[in-house]
Amino acid sequence: MEVVTNLNVESFGKLRLFYTRVLSVGDGIVKRHCKIWDFQSLNVVIGIGSFLSFLFAITCAYLYLFPSVQPVIRSYEISKPGSSISKPGSSIEKCNVFEGKWIPDESYPLYNASQCPFAESGFNCLANGRRDRGYLKWRWKPKNCEILRFNAREILEKLRGKRVVFVGDSLSRTQWESFVCMLMTGVDDRRSVYEVNGKKITKQIRFLGVRFSTYNLKVDFYRSVFLVQPSSAPRRAPKRVKSTLRLDLLDDISREWIDSDVLIFNSGHWWTPTKLFEMGCYFQVGKSLKLGMPINTAFRKALGTWASWVETMVNTNKTSVFFRTFESSHWGGKNRNTCKVTRRPWSNTRGQDRSSISDNIIKVVKKMRVPVRLLHVTQMGAFRSDGHVGTWGDHPSVPDCSHWCLPGVPDMWNEILMSSLLTMNNVPLQ
Ligand SMILES: *[C@@H]1O[C@H](CO)[C@@H](O)[C@H](O)[C@H]1NC(C)=O
Ligand SMILES: *[C@@H]1O[C@H](CO)[C@@H](O)[C@H](O)[C@H]1NC(C)=O
Repeated sequence: MEVVTNLNVESFGKLRLFYTRVLSVGDGIVKRHCKIWDFQSLNVVIGIGSFLSFLFAITCAYLYLFPSVQPVIRSYEISKPGSSISKPGSSIEKCNVFEGKWIPDESYPLYNASQCPFAESGFNCLANGRRDRGYLKWRWKPKNCEILRFNAREILEKLRGKRVVFVGDSLSRTQWESFVCMLMTGVDDRRSVYEVNGKKITKQIRFLGVRFSTYNLKVDFYRSVFLVQPSSAPRRAPKRVKSTLRLDLLDDISREWIDSDVLIFNSGHWWTPTKLFEMGCYFQVGKSLKLGMPINTAFRKALGTWASWVETMVNTNKTSVFFRTFESSHWGGKNRNTCKVTRRPWSNTRGQDRSSISDNIIKVVKKMRVPVRLLHVTQMGAFRSDGHVGTWGDHPSVPDCSHWCLPGVPDMWNEILMSSLLTMNNVPLQ
């Protein structure tokens, strides 16, 4: 606990130091280890395809071997709006917010990406020529309750003096951009909101921090696609090993995440053969190379490392911790490498409501000794074949059925996130 306190006190000094460090070597780190690529390159598209087939095969085998295993969907519970805020502790109807459906709602979207300097151009589908607008007008409706509607002014007030940190891959960056843009709609003086280093949002950037100065609020994004530490190949490693992922060590920028009030993680899209083995990146535990370790096993091990880190380093009395599960993608075709964005959401999930990545995350989070809440978005996203960037991104020739248009699906993740924070008992924000 003393460790935590000390870090709290020192963190701002460290943070400043960190900015300088990241500015100078951040790109170097990223390029050296595991060849971190632009998500939209063609190889990645093919990679995602083969990975999905692989997932599908694994899932089938799993279901065949363990037919009685029920999906472990234990998400946090959320009460009816109003009830728990006015009467904390009263007996309230609970529901699983991730069980529900998308319903049309003309009051959406919540913002205009062209008027938000923090929405990257590659996600602003309307500005990139998307004509149909139906995809903007859907709201997630849980079966037995309502999600609190996002009220930017009220939330800015609740978040006064706080630090919200998103950690993960580009999908995490999308959620960060969405959150900042949603908050921007409640700000009167737009010049009072700025990126702390004056940085433009780019795909490879390791750290982005937006400060809402009127509210002394910081909303940060740290790029850490694997959450664990990339490292150089050990001596005497076989030639094909160019770099490793240390499954037993959390990413060394993790010290920057500790002193926060809300901490939202994701990982999953980079755990593929294309992004690992084919790039010469293999797994390592301690000094030992794990050349034969399957990706699924390695991911579970990395999650275990993450869980112990949260348990020992994060003061969960102060920090609300969330983990977002796998975000459904909608690649089609025989090799799952074509991308056809629909005009309407699918009417059913076509079997995409589960993912072994999400199952692993849920399993690990369930066993933790401290409260961590799941943002189990896999199923709700599975319907949204209409929400992807498609050809309306940075590279029209490389369609994208992984990332989402902004405004769009990630806004709903943020509404659920805030609804959860504001309606739960025992959360620091009350
Ligand atoms: C968003 O803002 C831009 C620039 O101000 C404007 O041209 C556009 O019509 C707006 N889009 C919508 C959907 O309101
Ligand atoms: C968190 O709160 C619990 C219960 O009030 C308390 O026992 C524990 O010591 C607290 N932990 C820290 C790090 O403050």
